[in-house]
Order: sequence, then structure tokens, then C-alpha cells
Amino acid sequence: MKLEFNRLFPSINFIFFDEIDSTNNYCKYIAEQGFSKTTVIVSDAQTAGRGTKGRNFYSPKGTGLWFSILLKPSIPINELSFLTLLTSVALNDTLKAFSINTAIKWPNDIILNDRKLSGILIESKINNNKLLEYVIIGIGINVNLNKEDFSDELKEKAISLKIATGKEYDRYKILKLFIFNFENYFNKFIDGNKKFILNKYKANSFVLNKKVNLKYKDKTKIVIPIDILEDGALLVKDQNSNIEKIVSGEISLRVLF
Ligand code: BTN
Repeated sequence: MKLEFNRLFPSINFIFFDEIDSTNNYCKYIAEQGFSKTTVIVSDAQTAGRGTKGRNFYSPKGTGLWFSILLKPSIPINELSFLTLLTSVALNDTLKAFSINTAIKWPNDIILNDRKLSGILIESKINNNKLLEYVIIGIGINVNLNKEDFSDELKEKAISLKIATGKEYDRYKILKLFIFNFENYFNKFIDGNKKFILNKYKANSFVLNKKVNLKYKDKTKIVIPIDILEDGALLVKDQNSNIEKIVSGEISLRVLF
């Protein structure tokens, strides 16, 4: 597998594990030792997969795609949030190529049939000169999990490709296409083609112009997201028609209309 991936993407170093605590943790470990080449860590299982907001990320053996990309992009720190948008677009495009009707829930969950199919955890280190030292983009995709693989709580909120379509998918085919798309969008971004990516993000948004519950700053509000900005923020309109820019928050899965 490693050979095939290294041949397809010669500028990337691929490392495959049977089991690891977390592919993001392993990237951090490599990054701290110093690295010169973009590296992708893939593991068949994670024993301590991590999600956003300190949550666990369930990553059982042989069923999903659990991987992380370690890279050192020459971009200013304030462009980091655009990488999140870009990754969501590349992931959503990849899944759609398999005739799966996914959408992006701000900021970076991939949704299928109103449930979460895939999540992204981006971590980074900024050095004393305020430059990006490295970025780790961790991605989990529920590919061939069965309904009974999920806990009762997750069954309500999560979905896999297999549950949605009844078919088994070749995980590495999905990974190949994702890396291809990611490289493609990343080059567009570096070439200054952000508008194209942002428009794609908006066109595939699960929340734009719908009434949703937004949790932020310890409160929950009903809002209508009206735009997504280049810095990754969400522009929302509340029930009194006040417009607010949301940098960090969580939208519940249930759309209200
Ligand atoms: C989320 O939706 O909360 C983000 C989930 C990110 C999960 C992936 S799986 C591969 C990588 N390693 C981790 O520990 N987390 C990310």
C-alpha cells in the first residue's frame, strides 16, 4: 500500500499503521523531531482518536479511514482557517465523486442524510516569530461501519457510507481521490484562487439560509446563516434581524426548516 501511494504522490511520505493512539498525535511526534516532506499517517484503528472540543473520536479497526496530513505550508497564520474550508471542500468533493450526496456543516463536518459522516480536526504550531511551524489536518471518515458498531448515542448522530448505501467501499480508493483533490485545491489556494474554493464551500453548505440552532459563547440561539467569509467565519442573522459574525460555535444537526 505504502509503495503504491508513494508512487502516486511522490512529494508525500505515507506511513501506514495497524493501530495507533491517534494519527494526529503521531504527526505531532514526527513534527517535533523535524520533518522535511509532507507526511500522511494512516491507521487501521485508533485507540485514542480525538475529535474537536476535546471529544473522543470513535475509530474502530478496519472500518473507517482515519488519517492525518502533516505539512508546513508557507502561508501566514491568518490564512490557517482557509485551510479548514479547503479541506472540507476537498473531502466533500471526494465523497460526491462516489455518488454520495454529502454536504458541509460549518465549519468542517461532512453530513449525509442529516447525520455526521466525517469530521476534521486541524491542529497547528506557531513559532516565536509568529510563523506557522506545522499544521496537522486529521480526518475521520466512517466508511464501512455497521449500525451496531456505533454506540446508542452515536447511532442517532453518526452515519457511515455502508449504512447509507448498503455497499462496502474501498477505503484506499477514497483516500487516493481525497489526496488528489486536496493537492489540487491546495495549489489553487497558493495561487490565490480562494474565491473559487469559497464559492464551492458555500454551494455545498448544509446550513446556509436555513434556520438552525447555534451554540456559541455558552448560549444557544436560533439563527439563519447568511454567508461564510474568507476567514472561515459564519455570518448569521438572528430573529431580530441582527447580523453577527461567528468565529467559533457549533450548529446542531437538526435544521429547523
Ligand atoms: C471531529 O469531528 O470532532 C473531528 C474528528 C477528527 C478525527 C480524525 S481521525 C484521524 C485523526 N486522528 C485523530 O485523533 N483525530 C483525527
